[in-house]
Amino acid sequence: MKYTREILSDVEGYVPGEQPKSPDVIKLNTNENPYPPSPKVIEAVQALPPSALRKYPDPLAVELRRACAARYGYDGEDWVIAGNGMDELLALAVRTFVDPGDAVLTTYPTYTLYETLVRLHGGRVVSVELDGAFQLAEAFYSTPARLCFLPRPNAPSGVCVPRAAVERLCAEFGGIVVIDEAYVDFAEVDGEAPPHCMDFPRRFENAIVMRTFSKSFSLAGARLGVAVARPEVIAEFLKTKDSYNLNAFTQAAGLAAFDDYAYMEANAATIRATRARLTNALRDMGFDVPASQSNFVLARWNGVPSARQIFRALKERAIFVRYFDAPRLDTALRISIGTDEEIDALLEALRAILG
Ligand SMILES: Cc1ncc(COP(=O)(O)O)c(C=O)c1O
Repeated sequence: MKYTREILSDVEGYVPGEQPKSPDVIKLNTNENPYPPSPKVIEAVQALPPSALRKYPDPLAVELRRACAARYGYDGEDWVIAGNGMDELLALAVRTFVDPGDAVLTTYPTYTLYETLVRLHGGRVVSVELDGAFQLAEAFYSTPARLCFLPRPNAPSGVCVPRAAVERLCAEFGGIVVIDEAYVDFAEVDGEAPPHCMDFPRRFENAIVMRTFSKSFSLAGARLGVAVARPEVIAEFLKTKDSYNLNAFTQAAGLAAFDDYAYMEANAATIRATRARLTNALRDMGFDVPASQSNFVLARWNGVPSARQIFRALKERAIFVRYFDAPRLDTALRISIGTDEEIDALLEALRAILG
């Protein structure tokens, strides 16, 4: 197209997982939460007056950011920015810290949106492959770049790099470190609560920790994410966002979700239990499944039928999982953790497909 920026000619837009219209599909392809959000969230949204539609929302989402700061142990909203999904905050991070031509460091594999955002901005992606256990390779710490994206737990493997590795990265890497904790509420080490990095912004001037309400809070449709960083970092971020980036309904939903934190924690525990059951069942069937700390598993399969064929056969049975036609992933299925009934149906279908 002759009118568009030259850069767009070789950027493919991000391709999200399919959102089928039919309610009869078992949808295990986009890592949504299979359970509804807290009833308090529904109440809070329903209680909004009609003027919430007529008037602009709080452009700075102060109440929500304050609640978030308090929950994560920071003293005030200056440490937090809220965005229209974490995806918006990832885009703002590129806009805030990367000049066209600059390098941005990612792992491989990783969340593919990072690359799209960087290339749309005119930046260069430098990718360092994770090792065989999906851990950071030595070169990752020392590669020069303005910013790096580290999903922790990793998508799509579900594997979580240790806190000590992120500590070392913040200390040694020369740019901003975006620690994407989209799935960390589902993480657990030795039965302990999520080993997150939310204290890092206090300790490291280059650390930004991001969270989403899409997964553990069951609010993917509301679009809400938050980033925590030093106030001077947040101040720069705020310059780059749209003025009313967060609608009134989402602000109310987010506040109520934080208010009922125990609901989210119980929900995450249920998902962890289903994840353990699914992982064991898949391993018994011959899949190689790295230990996941997320609300999905990567089920690797080198046999016949191929992973791609299994993906298609599941789809014919109205069970949607995710297949990536990419190195290291094209022999695997990424399966979101559904309800126990959904996972039983998936396992039954897999047994039928594999004979
Ligand atoms: C690693 C990772 N980060 C961020 C996001 C985006 O979250 P949100 O729905 O808040 O935009 C996702 C969504 O799937 C993800 O997998």
